[in-house]
Amino acid sequence: MNENIPELIEEMRLQCMQCEQCGLSQTRNNVVFGEGNPESPLMIVGEGPGATEDATGRPFVGRAGKLLDEALAANRMSRQHVWICNVVKCRACLIENGRIRNRPPTTEEVTSCTPWLEKQIEIIKPLVILSLGAPSAKFIIKKDFRMTKERGIIYPTRFARYAVAALHPAYILRQAGQDYDGGKSLLIADIDLARRQVVKAKKEPQTDLFQPAIIP
Ligand code: URA
Repeated sequence: MNENIPELIEEMRLQCMQCEQCGLSQTRNNVVFGEGNPESPLMIVGEGPGATEDATGRPFVGRAGKLLDEALAANRMSRQHVWICNVVKCRACLIENGRIRNRPPTTEEVTSCTPWLEKQIEIIKPLVILSLGAPSAKFIIKKDFRMTKERGIIYPTRFARYAVAALHPAYILRQAGQDYDGGKSLLIADIDLARRQVVKAKKEPQTDLFQPAIIP
């Protein structure tokens, strides 16, 4: 198979920009499709865009994104080495006391949006998916995923040969205090685990089901 992955992803991005499958399309400023290297064997999947992502159309560009960039850099990686996207492509928010705040996407919103993620995975065919936060891990790894007990473990999944979950950078920011890094060192370690799993997976015999992505 000689598919042009960047072309297929661009074609899909143009379709996704027009999506009106759920009510989030009425309140979004931008669809946050995903970015990075579509030929990377490592895909990072977060929960959904926040205010900065909605304003810019780019994933993980707020404070949580800065922390993710730092954790990637600690592993000598940048977003050009991975594909970064979310389970849900539009911001879920509500107005409370006259202010707009993020809320978790509803089950219906997740259900209408995940075909986009599934299609991205089908095109990119990552060897390893790193789920950031429980909502992503519950979709990619298993419904009853428990972050405290099950992060940092390699799982086989139906989406990619392997998946691993890490603490969400926004959660880490909320936990961090004067003498606790909030779990940043765990995020760095889990990115390292995912990266090393890519190296291992590349040495395994490739099956028809999981085509290896082109090495960046
Ligand atoms: N949190 C997410 O889960 N995704 C983003 O893109 C930004 C913040």
